[in-house]
Amino acid sequence: MTLRLNPAIADWRSRRVWVIGASSGIGAALASELLDAGAEVILSARRAAPMQALAAGRRGARVHTLDVTQAEAWRQVWSELEHDDARPDLVVFCAAGYRPQHCLDLHATETRHLLDTNLLGVYLGLEVVLPALTQHGGGVALIASVAGYTGLPGAVVYGPSKAALINLAEILYAELKPRGVAVYLINPGFVDTALTAKNDFSMPALLTPRQAARDIMRGLARGAFEIDFPWRFTLWLKLLQHLPYRLRLPMLARLARS
Ligand SMILES: NC(=O)c1ccc[n+]([C@@H]2O[C@H](COP(=O)([O-])OP(=O)(O)OC[C@H]3O[C@@H](n4cnc5c(N)ncnc54)[C@H](OP(=O)(O)O)[C@@H]3O)[C@@H](O)[C@H]2O)c1
Repeated sequence: MTLRLNPAIADWRSRRVWVIGASSGIGAALASELLDAGAEVILSARRAAPMQALAAGRRGARVHTLDVTQAEAWRQVWSELEHDDARPDLVVFCAAGYRPQHCLDLHATETRHLLDTNLLGVYLGLEVVLPALTQHGGGVALIASVAGYTGLPGAVVYGPSKAALINLAEILYAELKPRGVAVYLINPGFVDTALTAKNDFSMPALLTPRQAARDIMRGLARGAFEIDFPWRFTLWLKLLQHLPYRLRLPMLARLARS
């Protein structure tokens, strides 16, 4: 028996989705797929030009620039959406920053900025969107990462920010499900974007942003809570995550040395 944890979203017509982090990579590909499927899409990120290029001539697309680290910016965009009667039914938190980084390579300003983007930005957004979602119904989707499953060396700030999002999604699910708000947790493996272009190692099971966007759409159509892909890669990380420390930590230490 399959227990469906969330509403399955297969028909996107008459849905309005706010994709935050839509100027490149997975967010841009997802916005494009959603538009193709008939959804209205609000595209947000800091850079207007790539979002305007994606939205040009596409029915149902609108662009609102946003810096997720700025509480006032969230309030401003939200009031514009309310003014235009364009409140979203689904809010996808996709914005993030990353740098491959070890624990002896920490810099306070950069650390604060990454955590502000990857984690605080989600809290600032939730504060703005949840009152309306709990009143009218809808959903939120957090894009975390398989890097949040366990402490992978080389992701000393990024990994914990994504682990926090996984934890946050579980809390949100428990608290919001009874209030009629769906919570989706999206954990991609490696996807070929500007973010991973900074990696100097070979990335197993690397997907294109379009493949990732389609996997996300398939997960939403299943009504899954966790949408992780590709399974041929996430399976191994899930196994690693569940190993006892006495087995897992030596493996992680070996990974750090390699
Ligand atoms: N690529 C992967 O292998 C992979 C794997 C697992 C999870 N993920 C996650 O997938 C999501 C998308 O990443 P991606 O790989 O597609 O990277 P990407 O191409 O670099 O996209 C990152 C997006 O975040 C936006 N962003 C960054 N800082 C922002 C800010 N302060 N305010 C608003 N928007 C901001 C960027 O737009 P602007 O610069 O225009 O603001 C851009 O649209 C991220 O959450 C990432 O952690 C990626």
